[in-house]
Amino acid sequence: MSFEEMWAALLPVGRDEATGGYHRFAWTPPELECRAWFVDEARRRDLHVEHDPNGNMVAWWWPGDGSRGDAVLTGSHLDSVPGGGAFDGPLGVVSAFAAVDALRERGAALTRPIGIGAFAEEEGARFGVACLGSRLLSGAIDPARARALTDGDGRTFAEVMHNAGLDPDAIGPDDDLLGRIGCFVELHVEQGRALREPVGVASAIVPHGRWRFDFGGEGNHAGTTALPDRRDPMLPFAGMVIAAREAAERNGTVATVGKARVVPGGVNAVASSVTAWLDARGPADEAVRRTVKQIDEAARVAARPHRVSVDLAEESYTEIVDFDLALRDRIAGTLGGAPVLPTGAGHDAGILSARLPTAMLFVRNPTGVSHDPAEFAEPADRLAGVEALTAVLDDLACG
Ligand code: GLV
Ligand code: MN
Ligand code: MN
Repeated sequence: MSFEEMWAALLPVGRDEATGGYHRFAWTPPELECRAWFVDEARRRDLHVEHDPNGNMVAWWWPGDGSRGDAVLTGSHLDSVPGGGAFDGPLGVVSAFAAVDALRERGAALTRPIGIGAFAEEEGARFGVACLGSRLLSGAIDPARARALTDGDGRTFAEVMHNAGLDPDAIGPDDDLLGRIGCFVELHVEQGRALREPVGVASAIVPHGRWRFDFGGEGNHAGTTALPDRRDPMLPFAGMVIAAREAAERNGTVATVGKARVVPGGVNAVASSVTAWLDARGPADEAVRRTVKQIDEAARVAARPHRVSVDLAEESYTEIVDFDLALRDRIAGTLGGAPVLPTGAGHDAGILSARLPTAMLFVRNPTGVSHDPAEFAEPADRLAGVEALTAVLDDLACG
């Protein structure tokens, strides 16, 4: 299977034909179809598929014996944000299979195992915590907290894992798997406009996190409730959204409210509660923390005259990730001095960097758009990405 054939096979899975957006949420039918595709592609190549206790998968290419601590892991994730693009995640997985094919075609002799990983719930679109599979694997989230996470229908992560045939009591740090991996190189579509050449190398991931605001008011009739009698949570919610933009501008950060749940959500009812999620990122921890503090204060000021309660909870936070310098320089050297750039997007390679040397290759995105159907990489750049990954794996695993 060529890159383009693999790409074409995945393309219809979970795509909304009306919008072109992808809906591949962890352990929903489209994501399970992507997982089955992964297992088929591994089998086609005689790669052994390891299903770890946290829902992550690794397809191993290693003709030698025994487990060693120096495997080179590549791959990415197969799940998507709601209405996402085709490239975020799958590009890294498809490119990894294509790079393994290229190494085999040229008769490369492995001196280290190569694994192709597909990490679970990278986007956190279903259970709210991004990179959940790699966080569990590396010990960055308490398993008890993960088990209790709920999806939009109130189903717990534990319940969903159980229904998928996994043991929720077995989730958590997996030092056996981590101990077999020497480094992780994730290829990913670039998610902004910073990359002008076909392939670049990541330097860092900026600090980023997610927070949940709960505004509690009083449900009532839209026609009969006089304005002074209302406890309308939509008003401080709206104030918080504006405050997020203003605080981001003041602090040199970015802050986004992209998801909200209004209860009960009737056109002719004053809402009883609003839950809204804030995503904030910036160049330094203090700037991000200050941004969130200012938004919280503004939300409380906006809530007071309307007698609405405000609760703020941090759902996840990732400090700045500086990718392993030696690995990054080695990769940039292998690629003949590819551009090195930071990113504002989170990745499993960022989470795993706490436990392993990790690195990332970015493939140019001419639209600069991501988490949207307009996300794109030109066919020639996709192949440049495969070539780059092949050269990197050749250097790291066949040297
Ligand atoms: C993942 O793509 C993120 O940056 O939220
Ligand atoms: Mn993403
Ligand atoms: Mn991604």
